[in-house]
Amino acid sequence: MFVGTLFVQALLAVSALAFPSSRERFERRAATRNGKPRPLLSHSNATHDTYDETWAGGIISSNAGTYKSVVGTFTAPPLSVPPGSSSSGEYATSAWVGIDGATCQTAIWQAGIDMYIKDGSASYYPWYEWYPAGSVYYDDLTVSEGDSLTVNVTATSTTTGTVTIKNNSNGQSKSSTVSYNYPLCEQDAEWIVEDFYYGDSTVHLVDWNTVAFTDAVAKTSSKSVAPTSGYTYDLEQSGKILSSTTLGSSTVTIKYV
Ligand SMILES: *[C@@H]1O[C@H](CO)[C@@H](O)[C@H](O)[C@H]1NC(C)=O
Ligand SMILES: *[C@@H]1O[C@H](CO)[C@@H](O)[C@H](O)[C@H]1NC(C)=O
Ligand SMILES: *[C@@H]1O[C@H](CO)[C@@H](O)[C@H](O)[C@H]1NC(C)=O
Repeated sequence: MFVGTLFVQALLAVSALAFPSSRERFERRAATRNGKPRPLLSHSNATHDTYDETWAGGIISSNAGTYKSVVGTFTAPPLSVPPGSSSSGEYATSAWVGIDGATCQTAIWQAGIDMYIKDGSASYYPWYEWYPAGSVYYDDLTVSEGDSLTVNVTATSTTTGTVTIKNNSNGQSKSSTVSYNYPLCEQDAEWIVEDFYYGDSTVHLVDWNTVAFTDAVAKTSSKSVAPTSGYTYDLEQSGKILSSTTLGSSTVTIKYV
């Protein structure tokens, strides 16, 4: 399933963390990304705010070949067990920026963090992923609550890209240059909080408080495009609305409600 990634060593690295292991996280996300349909919007609907079972956030859509780069800065949020849920057990979500996956279903070029709380203790794991290939984790980048991260995913062609995750607190960053045989359309750009799948069901959603993307911008080959030119997704599960997203000229704010 991995086609030509140049940076597989993160997958092979043995994680020192007991929970969840790099391998477990990889298998969870790989199961998701390879088995489940993405939210599918037709172009005629790509201007409407809408509800979705797994994605919350801001999405802009255009013609194929439009978006070359998506950037956003956010702070790893405090995590809580959702109201009414057992305080033991595991709850999770992801926050990421990406190209495609809303109206384009063939591939997604995305990067961000997974967030888990278990027995009151929070963990954050940075990754990138060129769906439908699995996630690659930066196991040596330790993210803690309150860290400000800037994530930049760039498509240098429909099958090659670069990713940078930068820690704004200390200036350190991780970058990778990748190549996959899953062509992008380059027609969606998004800033997302996701209730991701592992196996056949989504993870138990954590209360992520607020993920606020700032300096959020998508670049075409000639200009910058603001989130306000797009629309919102909010999470709806079993008839319950679980998020509230607002778009600004350079912000996408996704609150757990
Ligand atoms: C398209 O948007 C309209 C208006 O918001 C909504 O009623 C309809 O359900 C949407 N259709 C799809 C397939 O999302
Ligand atoms: C970011 O920098 C801060 C301050 O040096 C550090 O505590 C934190 O672990 C770093 N996080 C990452 C993801 O590098
Ligand atoms: C994102 O990364 C690309 C490729 O490295 C770079 O050209 C671009 O300037 C970066 N964008 C921002 C806003 O830093």
